[in-house]
Amino acid sequence: MEKTQSNHYQNVVILLCAMMLASSASSSTSVGVNWGTMATHLLSASSVVDMLKDNGFNKVKLFDADESILGALSGTPIEVMLAVPNNMLAEMSSDAAAATSWVDANVTAYAYPGGVNIKYVAVGNEPFLKTYNGTYLLQTLPALKNIQEAINNAGLGSNIKATVPFNADIYNSPESNPVPSAGDFRPEIRDLTVQIVQYLYSNNAPFVVNIYPFLSLYANVYFPLDFAFFDGSNKPLRDGNNIYANVFDANLDTLLWSLTRAGYPDMKIMVGEVGWPTDGDRHANIQSAKRFNQGLIEHVMSGEGTPLRKGRIDVYLFSLIDEDAKSIDPGSFERHWGIFEFDGKPKYELDLSGSQQNRGLVAVQGVAYMVRRWCVLDPHGKDVEWDLAKNVDYACSLSDCTALGYGSSCNHLSMQGNASYAFNMYYQLKDQNEWDCDFSGLAMITDQDPSDSRCRFPVMIGYGNRPVLMLRKKLVNILLVFAEGCVVFLLLVS
Ligand SMILES: *[C@@H]1O[C@H](CO)[C@@H](O)[C@H](O)[C@H]1NC(C)=O
Ligand SMILES: *[C@@H]1O[C@H](CO)[C@@H](O)[C@H](O)[C@H]1NC(C)=O
Ligand SMILES: *[C@@H]1O[C@H](CO)[C@@H](O)[C@H](O)[C@H]1NC(C)=O
Repeated sequence: MEKTQSNHYQNVVILLCAMMLASSASSSTSVGVNWGTMATHLLSASSVVDMLKDNGFNKVKLFDADESILGALSGTPIEVMLAVPNNMLAEMSSDAAAATSWVDANVTAYAYPGGVNIKYVAVGNEPFLKTYNGTYLLQTLPALKNIQEAINNAGLGSNIKATVPFNADIYNSPESNPVPSAGDFRPEIRDLTVQIVQYLYSNNAPFVVNIYPFLSLYANVYFPLDFAFFDGSNKPLRDGNNIYANVFDANLDTLLWSLTRAGYPDMKIMVGEVGWPTDGDRHANIQSAKRFNQGLIEHVMSGEGTPLRKGRIDVYLFSLIDEDAKSIDPGSFERHWGIFEFDGKPKYELDLSGSQQNRGLVAVQGVAYMVRRWCVLDPHGKDVEWDLAKNVDYACSLSDCTALGYGSSCNHLSMQGNASYAFNMYYQLKDQNEWDCDFSGLAMITDQDPSDSRCRFPVMIGYGNRPVLMLRKKLVNILLVFAEGCVVFLLLVS
């Protein structure tokens, strides 16, 4: 009796352990995600890290080495790729001591057991991008070497690999390239790229490439829409015996052919950025983003791979959260890549396991909002069209009006609706200051939500670190009570 009882407990313990192992094993296969911070109002890093855990993300890619983010990631098993920004490449390439102090402060300081699980350091971000006019061409390899050597000297070289995320424009794109098997690196950067490949290969580091089917579609009106997604295409691409039903695979295999031509057919590859925006263009919407991202996740997790290389594909989704302060030089969609809104709400259901469980995403918890108040056009205000246009331009030049453009979520608004939208975006950006809702007397504050089913007028999130602010307020209150007590006491004794 006694014995079977303890056997029973043993079995339960074993079962629980097995379940924990199974769940940790399955979670270690999730897709990664890019976490950028170019936003006017950031959610607290710790609440975002909790959300990553809630959703089972266990790989993040950063664009920097932000102290508050690394602090929040500390103690979690989440794998991290942090980054040396492009504007530090010159220094990192010419000064090994600067690379050493960068690594000391931003890698070694966190890479202890129970600290941050740093796996990769990205040296620059798409440094060979055509639009940079060659600025970083000669800096990248020396910077990569200096960073990796500093990591090696800190005794971390076997666990932490430096790499360079490249844009797919380093090789002939599938648009300019008839078939993947014709792939090769762009002639003017070929030697430099192959030298980097060689260094990465000898160090067992992955080659990282960013692939954007959305941009293929955006750049080319004749691009076949279905070919951008993963659910089959009427116009598959035939390349010898290989058939390509989506541009993602065609793009990856173009890279594989380029690497093979360079002598590295078995180079390890990771996709550093891939995703779909939800606003700011006629092809950027919730339905397409969900269709693309869900199809992508199922495809990369399935292990079917590409025609050239079978197996699971390592990807980092782009991106985690919308960033309203990004440059819109590439297009209005730039501020809408997030799977989550600026306030940490998921935009659509996405099953990250790729097993078609249709699981939703968990929002960031405990988000503090400002008061439910909006700044809109005063219908009883003066009616001066020139004034209105001037004020709308002013508001939009300083805030984010990308949802108003052609093909975007608020493009159906009237001229008056446009003005209200612009005024509100500026007012929310300015933390709802009363004096920032004036616009030559054309605007007024309302507590009636002006949103409609397609166009959302946001209320801004509380700025900065809420818990600390609240603590400070509490302290101030305690001090005030204490001071009052003192005054009363002094009055009594006097
Ligand atoms: C750590 O990284 C950040 C972001 O790249 C950088 O601003 C800072 O200078 C680095 N620290 C050192 C000591 O290099
Ligand atoms: C690259 O060159 C073009 C044309 O000369 C110029 O307009 C652009 O500002 C340059 N970009 C950079 C990053 O230097
Ligand atoms: C509203 O603003 C957008 C973006 O500036 C513009 O494309 C649209 O035509 C405007 N609508 C009206 C009715 O003025």
